[in-house]
Amino acid sequence: MSFKNQIQRRRTFGIIAHPDAGKTTLTEKLLLFGGAIQEAGAVKNNKVKKSATSDFMEIEKQRGISVATSVLAFLYRDRKINILDTPGHKDFAEDTFRTLTAVDSVIVVVDVAKGVEEQTEKLVEVCRMRKIPMIVFINKMDREGKDAFDLLDEVEQKLGLNVTPLSFPIGMGYDFKGIYNIYEKNINLFSGDNKKNIEETIAFDDIENPGLEKIIGAKAANELRDNLELVNGVYPDFDKELYLKAEQQPVFFGSALNNFGVRELLDCFIDIAPQPQPKMAEERLVRPEETELSGFVFKIHANMDPKHRDRLAFIKVVSGTFERNKLYLHVRQGKKLKFSSPNAFFAEKKEIVDISYPGDIVGLHDTGNFKIGDTLTEGEILHYKGIPSFSPEHFRYINNADPLKSKQLNKGVDQLMDEGVAQLFTLEMNNRKVIGTVGALQFEVIQYRLEHEYGAKCSYENFPVYKACWVEAKDSKSEEFKEFKRVKQKFLAKDKRNQLVFLADSQFSLQMTQQKYPNVKLHFTSEFN
Ligand code: G4P
Repeated sequence: MSFKNQIQRRRTFGIIAHPDAGKTTLTEKLLLFGGAIQEAGAVKNNKVKKSATSDFMEIEKQRGISVATSVLAFLYRDRKINILDTPGHKDFAEDTFRTLTAVDSVIVVVDVAKGVEEQTEKLVEVCRMRKIPMIVFINKMDREGKDAFDLLDEVEQKLGLNVTPLSFPIGMGYDFKGIYNIYEKNINLFSGDNKKNIEETIAFDDIENPGLEKIIGAKAANELRDNLELVNGVYPDFDKELYLKAEQQPVFFGSALNNFGVRELLDCFIDIAPQPQPKMAEERLVRPEETELSGFVFKIHANMDPKHRDRLAFIKVVSGTFERNKLYLHVRQGKKLKFSSPNAFFAEKKEIVDISYPGDIVGLHDTGNFKIGDTLTEGEILHYKGIPSFSPEHFRYINNADPLKSKQLNKGVDQLMDEGVAQLFTLEMNNRKVIGTVGALQFEVIQYRLEHEYGAKCSYENFPVYKACWVEAKDSKSEEFKEFKRVKQKFLAKDKRNQLVFLADSQFSLQMTQQKYPNVKLHFTSEFN
C-alpha cells in the first residue's frame, strides 16, 4: 500500500465524556465491531472510581492499567482506527487536554438522563478552540431521560455547538422502539422486551410510507413523522465541509451498552471523520504527506515499578514514517537517538513495530530524555505548538524534608514535571518552589513517588492561589509593566519554560489587576500567540 493510502486510511480520534456517560462501554463496542476483541469486558475500565478518591495508590494502579488503554487501534472497513484514551476524571483533565493535541477528531458522549455535564463542557471548549471536528453521541437511550429536542438545545447552548441530528430516537426508556437513521435512511428496531439486540434494520427512505405504521405502530409512526418534520424545519442539512471545519456537529442517539446505534455511528464516522491533518509548528505548517518524519510527545507514562524506572513516551507521528533503528533528531536536546523497540498499539496490546505512519501513535521506552511537547525529526528544527499548560486548581509550597537529599528531590521534581504530573512555579521574590495541580490527589502521588522512586522526602505548605495567569506585556519597557512587576512582585513566578506567571490570590484581585493594568494581558493558558 502506498504511503499516501496509508495516510488516507487512518483515523485518529478521542472519545470525551463526563465520567460514567459511557465512554468505556462505547470504546469497547467499537473494538468489538472492529473484531479487535472477542467479548465485552475485555477493555479494562481505567476510570477512577469515585470511591477511590482518597486512595491514590488505587488511582496509580488504575493509571497503570491505562497504559494498556492509552491507545486502542483496530481495523474497520479497511480503515486503521486509533482511539486515544482521554481520562474523564477531573484530576486528570490536564492529561486529556494534552491528548487532544494528538487527535484529528473527537466523539462526545452525553448521557441522555444527565444531559451535558461539567467535564464535557470543559473538554468541548478546548476542542472548539482548536477547531477539532466533533460528533455527538447521546447514550443510554434505553433509559428514561430528557426529551430529544431539549437535549439538542442543551448541547447547542451549553457546549456552544451547531448541531444537526443524523439519527432520531423512536420513543425512549420503556417505550424505546428503535432509531430512525437520517444519515442512512433506515430504521433500526430493538428486539422484544429485553432490548438487548437490534431486531432488524429496515431500509426506509420515505417516511410517509404507510408501512411505517405496521412496523412501529400508529402512535409512534405519527410521532416520528412529526419529529422528523421538526428536525427538517429547525436544523440545517448535514454538511461535511462544515463538520470538518468544526462549524457543525452531527448528533447520533443510541445505547452503547445494548450495542444500539453504535454501528451507525462508526459507519458515519468512517465516512466523514478527517484523515491525519497538517499540524502547525512554530516554524511552519507540516503536512502528513511529507516524506521526512516529524512527531511530538503528548504523553509520558511512568512505570510505577521502582525496579523498572523506564517510562513510555507517546509520540504522534505528524509526517513521514517512524522506523525502527533509524536515527532521529531530538530537537530540544539537539541529539540523535534511535529506537530499537518502538511500540505500536493494537486492540489492548502493544507490540514492536518496524514502521508507523502519520496518525499513528508510537510508544518509546525512555530513560529520561523526553518531556511533553518534545519533537523528533530527521534533522529539521521544528517545534510543535499547541501543548499549552492550563492554570492548575491547587497550589502548595514544596519543601525539602531531608536536607541530605536535595539533589534527589530536584531531580525527582524535574522528572515528574516533565511527565506532566503537575506544574512547578518558582517565585520571583524568594525562589521558593510552588507546585500546582489539577486535583488535590496529585500532591500525595508526588510525595509518594518522590520517596519511592527518588529516595527524597518533601513536605507541603498551603499557598492560597485562585488562578495562575500567564503574563503578556504589550510593551515590556512601559511604565505600566514596570509598576505591575513592582506592585505584584509577591505574586509573580516563573514556570518551567521561564514564562512569567501571575498567581492571583482571589477572583477579586485578578479583576482589579486586569482593570488597573489593561496593557498587561493575563492568559489562562501558557500558549497565547
Ligand atoms: P465512562 O467510561 O464514561 O466512565 O462510563 P462507562 O462506560 O464505564 O459506563 C458507566 C456506566 O453506565 C456503567 O454502569 C455502564 O454499564 C453504563 N452504561 C453505559 N452505556 C449504557 C447504556 O447505553 N445504557 C445503560 N442503561 N447503561 C449504560 P456501571 O453500573 O457503573 O458499571 P458496570 O458495573 O456495568 O461496569
